[in-house]
Amino acid sequence: MKQNVHLIAAARPNFMKIAPIWRAMTEGSEILEPILIHTGQHYDRNMSDVFFEDLGLPAPDVHLGIGGGTHAHQVAGVMLKYEELCLADRPDLVLVVGDVNATMATSLVATKLHIPVVHVEAGLRSRDRTMPEEINRLVTDAIADILFTPSPDADANLRAEGVPEGKIKRVGNIMIDSLVRTIAKARELDVFARYGLEDRGYGVVTLHRPSNVDDPATLERILRVLADVDLPLLFPVHPRTRAVMDQHDMVTACGLERSGLQFIEPLGYYDFMNLVAHCRLMLTDSGGLQEETTFLKIPCLTLRPNTERPITIEQGTNELATVESLPGQVARILAGKWKEGRVPDLWDGETAPRIVAVLEEFLAR
Ligand code: UD1
Repeated sequence: MKQNVHLIAAARPNFMKIAPIWRAMTEGSEILEPILIHTGQHYDRNMSDVFFEDLGLPAPDVHLGIGGGTHAHQVAGVMLKYEELCLADRPDLVLVVGDVNATMATSLVATKLHIPVVHVEAGLRSRDRTMPEEINRLVTDAIADILFTPSPDADANLRAEGVPEGKIKRVGNIMIDSLVRTIAKARELDVFARYGLEDRGYGVVTLHRPSNVDDPATLERILRVLADVDLPLLFPVHPRTRAVMDQHDMVTACGLERSGLQFIEPLGYYDFMNLVAHCRLMLTDSGGLQEETTFLKIPCLTLRPNTERPITIEQGTNELATVESLPGQVARILAGKWKEGRVPDLWDGETAPRIVAVLEEFLAR
């Protein structure tokens, strides 16, 4: 008989991590039966459904429909609904990815019901506990039974926290699996041209971290610096950021209509990766984009004081940035004086099969 594995997906960055695992189980495992659970944290079509289509995922088997709200609302809502599901369904294993609220909420439910939990993308640490994701990472890693890591720094973090060696499995970067599978087709599109831009003639901006966008004065300061950048910038605006911009009428208030900054709606996976693959530089506070740009060898400026993905700085194309440092860094990129970087070990598109192999052995025991 097959063993049921709940795959938990909640928010945009989860979908490209779950898709390759779902596929590896569906196509490559006699033992594991994936059951796709969407908690509903992201619910707009362009934040959720379009990714299921682009990544070839079927509709979720179960949709918990929790939606947005404060962190306590989201976490408590997911826990109540997910506990009901686990009691009825009794999965053999629960697999969570990344560091969003549902990652932690569903891990807590499963572990208290003595259902094994495995965490994909374990061990990343920014050491910044003001980041909600850092709390989610710490809690999830403290209770998970297997910790699948993307890089040696993650292994070292877990060891330093006293995690037994046998629980740590370095399998590589799961997000890169989706990128490897789709990049050729994404490159061929001409999404950038739709916005009047030329190959390598523009930058892409994404900002959604609470520390950058929740305080209007901080966001305004960032937008004004971006408006002065000597390169057209395309900015697909996250709903969280859009809410603050609209509330303060920032485009008009900062005179951004006349700048080289173009604000657009969030895009699907293929369209967005087309923009990334052809851009000159990336300006972001996202976690995943630091990794995707390292893989694609695109210069990346991360507008944060720290990163849980230091390997993208040490080996890849990433640098941290502040509003003060950003103009100089952009100038260096435009002058062609940026590091080329290299792709870290095991970021090869084969992480999902490695995860499946470990899980088959784990469940056979
Ligand atoms: C969440 C994750 C973050 C991840 C990000 C990617 C946590 C703690 N944060 O942050 O790690 O990088 O997703 O997007 O889990 N909204 C919509 N439509 C949507 C989704 C969100 O309007 O489809 C609105 C929400 O109602 C809310 C705001 O955007 O007002 C923020 O959404 P939320 O999921 O709470 O956090 P994110 O900032 O997206």
